[in-house]
Amino acid sequence: MERTVVLIKPDAVKKGVIGKIITRFEEEGFTLIAAKFLRLPDDLLDDWYAHHKDKSFFPELKSFMTSTPVMAMIWEGKNVIERFRVLCGPTDSRKAPKGTIRGDYGRDVQANAIHASEDEHAANKEMDLMFLPHEIQEWKR
Ligand code: RTP
Ligand code: MG
Repeated sequence: MERTVVLIKPDAVKKGVIGKIITRFEEEGFTLIAAKFLRLPDDLLDDWYAHHKDKSFFPELKSFMTSTPVMAMIWEGKNVIERFRVLCGPTDSRKAPKGTIRGDYGRDVQANAIHASEDEHAANKEMDLMFLPHEIQEWKR
């Protein structure tokens, strides 16, 4: 079954909407198989956002992503990668329609409430960076 990695980012953590975001995924019928609340280590962020390391916004992105702990999760289900990207909405929260997570809870292009893996390659990389095998629970809803 397909898996995706989600981060509830510091702006959404500060807003107190962790529960509301998780509820959306539960109501869509997806299965939570791993979760932890942690402050992201510097070296993990370098690997996570390696494709952005030469961008001008990279230092600011790192300081935003470490400004509070984040809620990191793995969700499982049919087409979960594509479905979660749709539920999140576009990267820039100002362009995200109401009803999407970024449209409802994000502020701008950086403070956009949530991360969800872009494709299967990214999901595999992010699962390896964020979780040990014993932190992933196999179960069926
Ligand atoms: P994510 O990886 O977090 O799910 O977001 P995404 O695919 O929609 O966007 P991506 O291009 O991968 O960018 C990763 C995160 O970097 C921040 N960002 N800031 N200041 C800027 O122009 C800018 N562009 C991207 C955002 O937090 C974005 O989600
Ligand atoms: Mg991305």
